[in-house]
Order: sequence, then C-alpha cells, then structure tokens
Amino acid sequence: MIKRVGVIGAGTMGSGIAQVASTASCIVKIFDLNQGALDKAKTSLEKILTRLVEKGKIDSIEKSSIQNNIRYVNSLKELSDSQLVIEAIVENLEVKKKVFKELEGYVSSECILATNTSSLSVASIASSLEYSERCVGIHFFNPAPLMKLVEVIPAIQTSNEVLKTTSETIKSWRKTVAIAKDTPGFIVNRVARPFYGEALRIYEEGIASFSEIDSAMKEVGGFRMGPFELMDFIGNDVNYTVTESVFTAFYYDPRYKPSFTQKRYAEAGWLGRKSGKGYYEYKDGKAVILN
Ligand code: NAI
Repeated sequence: MIKRVGVIGAGTMGSGIAQVASTASCIVKIFDLNQGALDKAKTSLEKILTRLVEKGKIDSIEKSSIQNNIRYVNSLKELSDSQLVIEAIVENLEVKKKVFKELEGYVSSECILATNTSSLSVASIASSLEYSERCVGIHFFNPAPLMKLVEVIPAIQTSNEVLKTTSETIKSWRKTVAIAKDTPGFIVNRVARPFYGEALRIYEEGIASFSEIDSAMKEVGGFRMGPFELMDFIGNDVNYTVTESVFTAFYYDPRYKPSFTQKRYAEAGWLGRKSGKGYYEYKDGKAVILN
C-alpha cells in the first residue's frame, strides 16, 4: 500500500494530484522551486475545499484532514521518505531528466518515480535513473480531482511489479486506469491534437472567430468546451509545448503541425485562465469574448 506520496511541481496539475492523493488518505509532500506556486496551491485548495463543504460534498472534518495530509516543502530532499513520487513540472525533457536524477539520490530504491508528462518519452526520462525499472508514466487530466481517467504508461524499462502497484494505487484513488504504450501523446493527447490544430487552422484561414468556433463545437458538436476554451483552460504554453513535442516525435508529420497563432499567444504570456488572458479575457473567473 502506498501511503507516502511526493509531488514535484505545484502548478495546475501538481496541486490537483496532491489533492487527489490526500483525499485518498495519503500523506503528501509537494515541492516547487517557486514559493509563490506553493502559496497559490495552498490558497486554491482552501477555496476548492470550502466550496465542496458548502455544496455538502465533504464535511469540515474531511476538509481539515485533506489539508492536514499535505505538506508544502521547499526542497526536493524532503521527499526522501516517499513510496511514490509524481513529477508535474515543465514539459521539458532535459529539465525532467535532471530532476529525476537528483531525486534518485534522495529516495529509497523501492520508491516508484512517475512522470505526469503529456507527450515526452517515458523511456527517455527513465534513462536518467540508475534503477530505470521503477519509472512509469502516470498521466492525469485537468482538473485532476474531477477527471476520472488516468493513463498509466509503462516505459520499455518499467518492471511488471511497478506497473501493477501503480495501476492498483491509482484505482484505489477512485480513478479509471487506461494502460497506454509509451508513444507521443499516448491515447487522449494524440486523439485531441486535431481538435486543437484544426480549430487554430480554421481561425487562421479567417473562416470563423475563436468564440464562433467554440460555440459551433458546443452547440452542434455537443462538446462540453470548445477548443479555444479548452486551450485557455489547459494553458497555451503547456498545450503548445505538447503539440510541438508530438509533432517532433512523429518525425514532423504535418498532421500534428503546431500553430503560429498559439506560439505567439504563449510567447506573449497570453496563457489563458491562469494568466487572466488567452483567446478570451477572464474577469472573476468568467470568460469575456474579445473577438
Ligand atoms: P504549470 O506551469 O501549471 O506548473 C508547473 C510547475 O512546476 C510550476 O509551478 C513551476 O514553478 C514548477 N517547476 C518548474 N520546474 C521545476 C523544477 N525543476 N522543480 C520543481 N518545480 C518546478 O504546468 P502544468 O499544467 O501543471 O503541467 C505540468 C506537467 O503536467 C507537464 O508535464 C504537462 O505536460 C503535464 N500535464 C498538463 C496538463 C494540463 O492540462 N495543464 C494535463 C496533463 C498533464
């Protein structure tokens, strides 16, 4: 039984994953290089849990125990007693490899080291480790506490035992597991690439505005969110990087070609909900149409 979980990165995904694990009664230590991200994660968890109490989904005792189960830490070393560490930092192979290599120096040889990468090779991340058979992909979806599905991705180095323990742990966290091979974008992010890519192309060809495309996809297509709302929700920086990485990994297959529109939005810091502006502007959590 996994009881002590480490999370690296307290951004959108790391903070959600910490909430999932602590709700499942694990003791969670979450580390981020940026103290501001840790503070934000703590404040946002307080807001989320208060809303759940108001809605009657949890009581105040459960709220306190979820909060008390999470420790916000300033050094990677503090994750040393973890049985499972889930990394959710920037989608950059070299940065992830460096963090895994350092982490391996602190944790026991039995500790499972998992990455929440959306698109990078788990085999390549695992190659940074001395015991690469302990590395596995655990890909949560955003928002992690609400989304049922989790993709579990064994690298070619991953041992059967690590795969089994990982899958059982994630199921015990009341998630549905889909095991996917270690290929760019795994299942969901690969299927979703054309949803974003074609929407961006439709906009770039002047066929329709962001809000018109979103509205058509919701009203006619029956999607819960349009592609631009979803990209703003995920973060244009993260979504662009994933597209670029899938495109490169598939030997520049034009089906996955990234968009300059999205690249410029990411470069401008128009990241979406998290920065207050993306394809829409966000005021008090509500999207305002700009075009
Ligand atoms: P984010 O930008 O919201 O958060 C990343 C956090 O990692 C930041 O707080 C940053 O300070 C921290 N960080 C960066 N380098 C670090 C380091 N070396 N050590 C410790 N902390 C470090 O990113 P987000 O959206 O949470 O994504 C994280 C990972 O999860 C990426 O690999 C992404 O592809 C993946 N992912 C993202 C999803 C999304 O919808 N945003 C969905 C599923 C996976």
